[in-house]
Amino acid sequence: MISCGIIGYGFLGRILAKRLADYRGRGLELRMLANSKGYLLLDGDVPPGDITPLPRFRASSPLEPVERGLVDLLVVLTPTNVRTGEPGLTYIREALGRGVDVVTADKGPLVVAFRELTSLAESMGVSFCYEATVGGGIPIFSLARHSLMGDRIISIRGILNGTTNYILTRMHFEGLPLDLALQEAQMMGLAERDPSLDLEGIDSACKIVILANALLGVDKRLGDVKVRGINQVTSDAILAAKELGMTIKLVGSIEGDRLSVAPRLVRLNHPLCVHGTLNAIEFKLDIMGDLTLIGRGAGESTVSALLSDIEWILNRRAYLRGGR
Ligand SMILES: NC(=O)c1ccc[n+]([C@@H]2O[C@H](COP(=O)([O-])OP(=O)(O)OC[C@H]3O[C@@H](n4cnc5c(N)ncnc54)[C@H](OP(=O)(O)O)[C@@H]3O)[C@@H](O)[C@H]2O)c1
Repeated sequence: MISCGIIGYGFLGRILAKRLADYRGRGLELRMLANSKGYLLLDGDVPPGDITPLPRFRASSPLEPVERGLVDLLVVLTPTNVRTGEPGLTYIREALGRGVDVVTADKGPLVVAFRELTSLAESMGVSFCYEATVGGGIPIFSLARHSLMGDRIISIRGILNGTTNYILTRMHFEGLPLDLALQEAQMMGLAERDPSLDLEGIDSACKIVILANALLGVDKRLGDVKVRGINQVTSDAILAAKELGMTIKLVGSIEGDRLSVAPRLVRLNHPLCVHGTLNAIEFKLDIMGDLTLIGRGAGESTVSALLSDIEWILNRRAYLRGGR
């Protein structure tokens, strides 16, 4: 039986824990949950998802069970600091270094230490999966690594932040000024109380760094991205774009060595021109030409990406055991 731990029992952690109840028959058991207060060891008789009310968490480091060898697969779902990578970076580094497979949705650790973590996983012979970090449930990395293997990615462009896309959509279709569209997004729970990481383009820039490092084999940092957010986008600018059959979108792009995030004019009938909180990513490929993926970039759909990573690890372990 593969023993799984989840650090970060918040929005994603709770949905994932429920889903993992179905995996006991597949040889995976949820053994540990952790939050900012500490951790909880689950005995096999407690079905995850039915743990309400939650017993008290043991006020100790969630790494304790990892150090005691009680966890084979660790899922890290903590709030992320994109400048330090913490707290996820320490959890991931420690787990990989002890030969534990890791799945995460945290951007910070990948933005700060992509090469270090992927090299560590490789040297330890374990899996490090992060499909959920960019585009929520949209299968970007698995698609690129499997189905696009025979082609060459020339460039990538994407609308990678649902909050700013919602705001720009409301400005375009309802003529709202930015501050009112932002207030609306906050009231709907789509924008944080401090929305600066989204509005200033930093969240999109983090995703561009992860895409570049993971898919184009470079070693980029946040400082390598030329970033301009949507703070200066006015209703008049959107109206002028509209009159030309276009709109303004916050577009992240990777072209050659150049990484950027900026508000750009996009034709209303262009595949990349998605509205509301949707995300879109466009690959320009050597043989196939353009390929655009569209989907929900956050929310419950993100759990689809987490489960896809977990499935990949289960299959790999079965293969290594000679079971397939
Ligand atoms: N939500 C989405 O749609 C989405 C999509 C893609 C990526 N992500 C990323 O996935 C991660 C998790 O998102 P979420 O929405 O599930 O977050 P969330 O609801 O805020 O939950 C975060 C969890 O992490 C715990 N935590 C905070 N600091 C910790 C620490 N130092 N050690 C251990 N646990 C700690 C919190 O504990 P308490 O409960 O004690 O506060 C909480 O249980 C974030 O990095 C986010 O950016 C989220």
